[in-house]
Amino acid sequence: KAPVVAIVGATGAVGVELLRCLESRGFPLGGLKLLASPRSAGKTLDFKGEPVTIEALTEESFAGVDIALFSAGSGISKRYAAAAVKAGAVVVDNSSAFRMDADVPLVVPEVNAASLAGHRGVIANPNCVAAIATVALAPLHRAYPIRRLTAATYQAASGAGAAAMEELRESTAAYLRGESFEPKVLPHPYAFNLFSHNADMDEETGYNGEETKVVAETRRILGTPELPIGITCIRVPVLRAHAMALTVEFDEVVTVEEARTILGNAPGLRLVDNRAANYFPMPSDASGQDDVLVGRIRQDIGDPSGKSLALFVAGDQLLKGAALNAVQIAELLLKR
Ligand code: A2P
Repeated sequence: KAPVVAIVGATGAVGVELLRCLESRGFPLGGLKLLASPRSAGKTLDFKGEPVTIEALTEESFAGVDIALFSAGSGISKRYAAAAVKAGAVVVDNSSAFRMDADVPLVVPEVNAASLAGHRGVIANPNCVAAIATVALAPLHRAYPIRRLTAATYQAASGAGAAAMEELRESTAAYLRGESFEPKVLPHPYAFNLFSHNADMDEETGYNGEETKVVAETRRILGTPELPIGITCIRVPVLRAHAMALTVEFDEVVTVEEARTILGNAPGLRLVDNRAANYFPMPSDASGQDDVLVGRIRQDIGDPSGKSLALFVAGDQLLKGAALNAVQIAELLLKR
């Protein structure tokens, strides 16, 4: 029988997209439960043209639920995931709470679907950069093992939630009116600016929490626990799609043509690589799209050995970076 699905954090930036993904993909539903904070209880969200009433999340919310999609932050996941599992639900968790737990699979369906088999009630949905990057890296890695990765990211507001997206809109409007704007959600002015990712900074290493997560999760998803990864994560004034420059070193020479063929045939990817038109992946084209865009595939002239390629990737943070990947995991659960 069709599963009863709960969305925890249904009113959030990701929660709303979870609802849209379930709707647009025709996910078979035996019932739908929308959960959020008491502030939202009693309000409604539309699903297939019908209003569904939002309930306040409690430990009792999961009776009869088969699949619980969590997207209300780590604190809520840590506090309520156990109650959901106890009630018999499988949790697909979008937060970072359990991603590095050995008995919690960290899954990108195009990359490591098989790892789902070992789950014990909780499955982790990766960090958005790790999910989007590995969709592009895994097909290359399968053909030619990756020896080293260097990444610079250009991350959208959506990764910091609906309030950060609103702050980008409001601060941009204020800037254009010539008014001053005091940031409330993000630590720095966002309009016509960019800044080092706002995750907690480790003063000792100089790396922030986003960078640390992307490194650890990329290694885990690719199954390369020792892969050397250098990374700089930057927040840019884009609403909902992340972009990233990836420099990938292989064990052997990989030609641009080979890389194009591999990436052009890989699931979840779309090649956008038109040198003549100077047309490459852009957040504006990636926004609202399920596919991750990949292009600017070229030899990295910074590596004289010829064994490195440079790529540019863009993917919708709210879709492949969050909601879509979670719903794809739920679809894999149904198949099993
Ligand atoms: P609410 O809208 O009622 O505050 P975002 O990532 O876009 O900031 O969204 C966070 C999501 O987490 C929202 O759906 C929010 O609901 C939900 N949330 C925040 N605090 C709680 C809580 N204490 N219990 C349940 N859901 C919560």
